[in-house]
Amino acid sequence: MIQVGFRKPVINDEINLKETLQKYRSGKCGGHFLPSNCKARQKVALFIPFRNTYEHLKIFLNHMHPFLTRQDLEYKIYIIDLNERILINRSPLLNVRFLEASKDEDYDCYFFHDVDLLPENDYNLYRCSELPRHMSVSKDKFNYQLPYDTFFGGVSAMTKEQILFVNEFSNKFSCWGGEDDDLFNRLIFHNMTVLKSMSDVSRYIILNHKQSPFKPERFKLLSTGIKRVMQDGIKNLKYKMMKRTNYPLYTYIKISL
Ligand code: BGC
Repeated sequence: MIQVGFRKPVINDEINLKETLQKYRSGKCGGHFLPSNCKARQKVALFIPFRNTYEHLKIFLNHMHPFLTRQDLEYKIYIIDLNERILINRSPLLNVRFLEASKDEDYDCYFFHDVDLLPENDYNLYRCSELPRHMSVSKDKFNYQLPYDTFFGGVSAMTKEQILFVNEFSNKFSCWGGEDDDLFNRLIFHNMTVLKSMSDVSRYIILNHKQSPFKPERFKLLSTGIKRVMQDGIKNLKYKMMKRTNYPLYTYIKISL
């Protein structure tokens, strides 16, 4: 019988993804997994914005595939990369989540997930609800406390209807930060309450990384964000598909803006 509950992620530079692949059953390729003995209640797409952080990606995949298969989910992991080696806000990468995943399946649930966040508790269920869900409520770096009440970054889950209703992320932010706060404002503007998991369940480990450059302009954009909801978001995102490759543990998508 599989033990479920609290599990410390393995954080080790020596992780070999070939071994991970041998250990975990794969339904189809491209990081698409199916439960072997039941029909999953939800089909879940996980989107991971990626900027050259292979060390994190190895640790992430090694932890997430076992974690998600223990939940008997049908899921697919997408890694989204940008062709240009420039600093941008990650919002266009995240906006691609719905546009690209819905080419594969009509998923019940779309996650965005930072590659440096690892869930510690199996009872943190990766699925959508009638309201948008914020998953990464408590993180070791913040002493397992929410940094501020309206925080919606890290890991969150929304349905297709919720995404289209609020027009997803703004594409206007540059450098690090602000896009998740703006999305939270969009949800509140549309009278949607955000469901937050209980902090003892939604515990995450953060992998060490350098702080990306940020600009104070994000606060100004945030204060005027609601005025742009309808014209700035998933509906006006323009991008070119550069590469889409199925690897056994994930689908890699590279776009150009
Ligand atoms: C940024 C957010 C970020 C949060 C937590 C805020 O100042 O605007 O984008 O998620 O800090 O790090």
